[in-house]
Amino acid sequence: MKKTAIAEKEKPDTKPQAQAFATEAVAALREKHVMPLPGPMYSKPLQIVKGRGQFVFDEKGRKYLDAFAGVATVSIGHCHPHWLAKIEEQMREYFHTTALYLHPSLGIFAKRLADKAKAANPDMDVCFFTNSGSEANELAAMIAKNYTGSHEFIALRHAYHGRTMMAMALTGQSSWRHSMPYPFGVSFAKANYSYRRPSGMTPKQFAALCVEDLEDTIKTSTSGKIAAFFAEPINGVGGVITPEPEYFPGAYAAVKKAGGLFIADEVQTGVGRTGNDFFGIQKWKVKPDIITMAKGLGNGYPIGAVITTRKIADAIKGKSHYNTFGGSPVQMAAAGAVLDVLESERLPENAAKIGGHLLARLKKLEENSPFVGEARGMGLMLGVELVKDKGSKEPAPELAAKMLDMTKDRGLLIGKGGISGNVLRIKPPLCLTKADADFVADTLAECLGAL
Ligand SMILES: Cc1ncc(COP(=O)(O)O)c(C=O)c1O
Repeated sequence: MKKTAIAEKEKPDTKPQAQAFATEAVAALREKHVMPLPGPMYSKPLQIVKGRGQFVFDEKGRKYLDAFAGVATVSIGHCHPHWLAKIEEQMREYFHTTALYLHPSLGIFAKRLADKAKAANPDMDVCFFTNSGSEANELAAMIAKNYTGSHEFIALRHAYHGRTMMAMALTGQSSWRHSMPYPFGVSFAKANYSYRRPSGMTPKQFAALCVEDLEDTIKTSTSGKIAAFFAEPINGVGGVITPEPEYFPGAYAAVKKAGGLFIADEVQTGVGRTGNDFFGIQKWKVKPDIITMAKGLGNGYPIGAVITTRKIADAIKGKSHYNTFGGSPVQMAAAGAVLDVLESERLPENAAKIGGHLLARLKKLEENSPFVGEARGMGLMLGVELVKDKGSKEPAPELAAKMLDMTKDRGLLIGKGGISGNVLRIKPPLCLTKADADFVADTLAECLGAL
């Protein structure tokens, strides 16, 4: 019997779904009729048919703690009753309209979100809604081009900004870049990936070196004037790369000197995931000109957002810009309900408290396990980088793949990322409890011990 298996601690509270197909049949049908997708993540595919709070259930009713949250997307918990009620209420009243007509929900929610963004930049006043993070980044880039008159961008190596052409052009990972003619004008600067800094250098020195690299990139790869710098406050897909406190203030100064806008991609870090602050960029004390969001803003309901100042937004005036679903009443109801729950259940504060506890426990694994090179992150955006050997820091993607299977068998779902696929990603719904966090740490410890 495995010590920490959640199924032995708690009886699954769901009956097998009558309509669920056998996993093999579901996998075969998908294989035959769906374009190649990443995954399935496990050596034997996992089928999930139900979610409640921080838990999900497979077709046999087996319960899992969902510490990946549909890739950092389920923020307030699966099927939260308030969120469901608000969506249903709006759907019954009026499902789809167009922003060509007025509906009160759009302005009301835009004001609410812009008010949140004032904590990052008091001039934030204007929102535009899309269906996804990629679309939000695409629009942010277009606004920056119109505003500055430049079409040169800087992004960070290891970054992930999405799957549309511009978003892919801004992505700094070969596995996510397809060989094709991208929109031109993107240059890449060194990520402040402290764990992989040159030996003999302190984290602070390395942050300064990365700022210098950004300055050099602007000097050597652009005209000297840029449209914008794109960055994730904490890099998600690239392996929870968490910069030093000195990095973003230095980068911000370099970007401003080159006349560029600072665009914070908060698709993963937004809605309180990094703890206490609504936006991850608030941790780094710089004033973004544009913020993009998606994922947790809808708790799974598709929504993306661009937030900026009136002056910057007006750069697209005179040209039509439109999104069929963006800003629909149901989308506004879903995202409004997410904000209601974040506030009433104090979830950003919970992310700080429970995430802090969990990171402290993961840091113990870093001390004790020969395979844990570094545990890092903030709030409930955490990563555990696995290596073959702590001296050489050689990435251990095979161990990460094994850990995914082993944790799943014990009732825990986590993700993996990083350019070598060797970073375990822990990004659960923000309603995680201390007992859940201990279950995550205990399960990881048990699996690392068994490797
Ligand atoms: C930081 C970041 N930006 C943008 C995106 C793209 O978002 P979407 O998949 O909603 O287009 C993602 C998705 O993982 C992301 O992590």
